[in-house]
This record gives sequence, C-alpha cells and structure tokens, in this order.
Amino acid sequence: MSAHNEHAEHKEFIYLTPMPIRIWHWINALGIVTLCLTGIQIRFPEYVNIFGTYKAAIRLHNTAGITVSIFYAIWFAYYLIVKGNLFKLYVPNTYDIKMGIFRQVLYYFYYFFKGGQSPHHATPDDKFNPMQKVAYMGLMLALMPLVIVTGILILNVAPLRELILLMGGLKILVSAHFLIACCFFAFLFVHVYLATMGHTPLAHFKPMWDGWEEVEHH
Ligand code: HEM
Repeated sequence: MSAHNEHAEHKEFIYLTPMPIRIWHWINALGIVTLCLTGIQIRFPEYVNIFGTYKAAIRLHNTAGITVSIFYAIWFAYYLIVKGNLFKLYVPNTYDIKMGIFRQVLYYFYYFFKGGQSPHHATPDDKFNPMQKVAYMGLMLALMPLVIVTGILILNVAPLRELILLMGGLKILVSAHFLIACCFFAFLFVHVYLATMGHTPLAHFKPMWDGWEEVEHH
C-alpha cells in the first residue's frame, strides 16, 4: 500500500521517491554543482579562481566526475533492474507528446499564476508530468551518458588515444563536453525554479527528502 492517512489533519500522502533515489539525487546535485563551479574555473582560469589553484580545480573536478559517474550507474541499475520501471517513468507516452506537454506548459506559464491545479497527478508509477518526463529523459538517458563518456575519454587521453581519434579528436570531445555541461548549468536553474511550483513552494522538496508527497485535493 503506497498511501497512508494522517487522521488528525486528514492529510493523505503517497510514497513517491525510494531511499536509494533520494541518496543518489542529493549526492548527484552536490556533484553537478561542484562540477559546474570547478568547470568554470578550468575553462576560464584567467577570470575565475574559486578553488585556489588550477590544479586543485582539476583534481576536484575529476573526483566529482568519477563520483557522479558511479552514482549514475547505481541510479540506472536501481530503476532498470531493481524497480524495473525506468522507461515507464522516464519515457513520455503518446498522450504526453500529443497533449500532455502542451497542457503542462500552459499550466506552468498561465494557470499556476491564476491559482489553478496541475493537470498531472503523481502516482508512484507515473510520478512525472509530461514536461518532467521529457526533461528528465533527455538529461538522464542522453546528456548524462554523453557527459560521462566524453569525460572518461578526456581523463584518459593516453590509453584511449585510438578511441579519441575515432570520435573526431580531443578538440571535438572537449567542445562536446563543454556544451553538454552548459546544458546542465542551464537545467539547474530551471529545475530548482520548477521544483518550487508545487501546491506549496516546498511540496516537491518533501518527497526528495523523506519519500512522501502530500496529495493535492480537488
Ligand atoms: C541544487 C540542486 C538541486 C535541487 C535543489 C533539486 C531539487 C529537486 C526536487 C525538489 C525534485 C523533486 C521534484 C521533481 O521531480 O521535480 C527533484 C527531482 C529530480 N532531480 Fe533534482 N535538484 C537539484 C539538482 C539536480 C541535478 C543536478 C540533477 C541531474 C543532473 C537532478 C535531477 C533530478 C531528477 C532526475 C529528479 C527526479 C528523481 C526521481 O524521482 O526519479 N537534480 N530535484
């Protein structure tokens, strides 16, 4: 049973986010913020010095990158093998593409500010609205693997020389890595802003902390 009642307040909660995903999410968030900050210093050393020396920024960037990669593998295996619902949760269906995204965008840009309610109602098996599905799918199933693979190649230039040449050379890889990183940087701001657009500003933060989200009544 994935719902329980707090009788005193007549509030209903559903269990949306399992513990391994919550642990992954916050380690990943810290990792990506660290990667963005160290990355900015590595890319623009003449303008930015946050971590003391260039070498320190590179060392921290590599450590955070390896940590994020390992936790990505855990995230992937957990949803794919343990829960078996990775694609169900993260891939939009035909309704999402035909109508859902449009309704959700309309809600975020207009009805939210009129005090309306989100057209999507989260359940443990369908916890993301169509917009979240598209964004999270692109992020977790495309950008994340790409940034990890380009990162691993750049980190191991000598042993992986042949593979790097096959993919167009180091310059192309470094540019691709940087461009994907820019997408992550932009995503962070949009993601944190949208995360505050629950029925209360912290409503979406609660399930990322203790797993349970309060059901919005209609
Ligand atoms: C300071 C940084 C961050 C904050 C405050 C934050 C906050 C949140 C919140 C409140 C949620 C739950 C509501 C929702 O699903 O929209 C969430 C979910 C999620 N966030 Fe973040 N986030 C941060 C960074 C990141 C980063 C860097 C990534 C990926 C690169 C990320 C990926 C995700 C994903 C995939 C989910 C859905 C998880 C699931 O239930 O399967 N977040 N985040």
